[in-house]
Amino acid sequence: MSAAPADGIAERRATNDWNSALYLKFEAERTRAARDLLAHVPYCDTQRVYDLGCGPGNSTQLLAMSFPDADIIGIDKSDNMLSVARARTPTATFIKEDIGHWRPSQPADLIFANAALHFLPDHRGLMTRLLSYLRPGGRLAVQMPNNTHELSHAAMRMVAADGPWAPRLLPVAKSIMVLGPLEEYYNLLAPLCSTIDIWQTVYVHPLDGPDGVVEWFEGSGLRPFLDLLDANERVEFLARYRGRLAQAYSRQPDGKVLLRYPRLFFALQK
Ligand SMILES: C[S@@+](CC[C@H](N)C(=O)[O-])C[C@H]1O[C@@H](n2cnc3c(N)ncnc32)[C@H](O)[C@@H]1O
Repeated sequence: MSAAPADGIAERRATNDWNSALYLKFEAERTRAARDLLAHVPYCDTQRVYDLGCGPGNSTQLLAMSFPDADIIGIDKSDNMLSVARARTPTATFIKEDIGHWRPSQPADLIFANAALHFLPDHRGLMTRLLSYLRPGGRLAVQMPNNTHELSHAAMRMVAADGPWAPRLLPVAKSIMVLGPLEEYYNLLAPLCSTIDIWQTVYVHPLDGPDGVVEWFEGSGLRPFLDLLDANERVEFLARYRGRLAQAYSRQPDGKVLLRYPRLFFALQK
């Protein structure tokens, strides 16, 4: 397989932090969801915009371009991601903070969170709290991957459960957040806002065979597993994962595999 040599992976994972370079290998695909979410936020008088889980600033840059007169504030807890975000969008402000404890200094016009809130527990409490941080008429726009039932994730769990690392990795597999159904979010949020738009999109990404899928998730969903493995174990884990993907995803005539990627969206006005 094409897993990187043990040293390379060890170096990449030395800090257990996000690796923005790995994440941005699929920047266009990952940012597409942010664009689609933003398309549901009407342009209006917006002075203060928060980008929760801003990552390497791809979503923040979109917000800065869409609201050129607003204060744009990115919140993230990853040093690596924040350093890239700062270089990318110098006009925005970036703050290192855990979203779980974050509270804006003033009511927000827009709270935007693309591919971030699925890392946090207690969505009932979290969404209610975020809504309370909006000014009347303010907007909350959220996108969360909803792919824990996909083949890519089933394969991750199977590899985690079936190896010498199982005692370490099974608790991680069990702790991965599974989103509730659309109806649950609708019923929670609709009574608290004046308008709500809620939908799910299944993106389909043509990737370069199983290696492409491995690369995709090395930059995101595999991190909690890989972070607990030593360099040799990571190579073995990735080889087994690749093997399972090769069985699960059929190659198209052009050699690509199609990664199904469901994402849950909502955009609401307080
Ligand atoms: C998948 S990236 C999303 C990046 C970007 N928003 C985008 O549109 O591609 C998720 C980001 O959320 C951040 N994150 C996850 N949990 C967090 C938390 N509890 N507090 C702050 N940031 C968090 C991670 O550090 C990471 O940079």
